[in-house]
Amino acid sequence: MKHWNTKYPRRFDLGSNEDYLRWRDEKLAAYPRNVGELVVELGDMTAISPAEKTKILELSERANMCVYTAGSAPLDMDSLLALGRQLGVTQTDKSTRHTQADELTDSGILNHAIPFSTRHVNWHTDATYYGSDRTIQSLFLLCKRPAPEGGSNKVLDHEMLYIRLRDSAPGALEVLMTKDCFNYRNPATGEVDPGRGGKVFWTNAAGHLCHRFSFRKTDMAWSDESDVAAARRTLEDLISGEAADVIEGRLESGMGLISNNVLHTREKLTDSEDPAKKRLLFRTRFYDRVDPERVG
Ligand SMILES: [Fe+2]
Repeated sequence: MKHWNTKYPRRFDLGSNEDYLRWRDEKLAAYPRNVGELVVELGDMTAISPAEKTKILELSERANMCVYTAGSAPLDMDSLLALGRQLGVTQTDKSTRHTQADELTDSGILNHAIPFSTRHVNWHTDATYYGSDRTIQSLFLLCKRPAPEGGSNKVLDHEMLYIRLRDSAPGALEVLMTKDCFNYRNPATGEVDPGRGGKVFWTNAAGHLCHRFSFRKTDMAWSDESDVAAARRTLEDLISGEAADVIEGRLESGMGLISNNVLHTREKLTDSEDPAKKRLLFRTRFYDRVDPERVG
């Protein structure tokens, strides 16, 4: 374990360079370079061993995510929730949402919303619509059936994005960390909700970096202030540029993702016509996060 949050508590403070520069060098050296480095094989995801837990927590520091194999556990939502509990995350948003909203499959629910389709999904963090005061801080997936073809994901740790921005465009980063940059817009009515908006990067009470972003335009009402518009362009260019920090992989049956809601895409997929063979991933999202120093 690196214990970066204790060692470098001011690494996300734009007014101080000392912690940032030390942490940056360690983080760049530790960040995984391919999906193979992200994998943790579990004997049973519902009963993880202390050594397995340590591996998950180490990767949560290095990359805010890991890819796991479920082992002997059933591939269902209960196993996913059990994994969360063992890592100290329990506060899901399930009670507020459609009952099938956490079964990612080509079901066409929620007016054919993109996660429930076979289309390409561009870079985003999950649940940008909650506002930065109460947002989704972690996202877990478990694959029961992959698509016959396609449906792989790209992932990018938002702490790497923070480093790239801080080093190349600190002014833009300051805007993204201090100003209310966008609000939620209801895609059905076009109505903007001033109560659900906020920053693009910020730190939570424990000192961890949070991030929310999406290329989707229908539900994102960005501020038209010139500094926000310029910072948004800088951020979008950086994400679209797909630096070496982007990791790509496909979840096969029995594989899953543990993440502190890192940026991700999903490639277009071709699905089976047979409902029993369609791609199916279980998803759960939490208001809390995997915090290695809290549960470790
Ligand atoms: Fe997503």
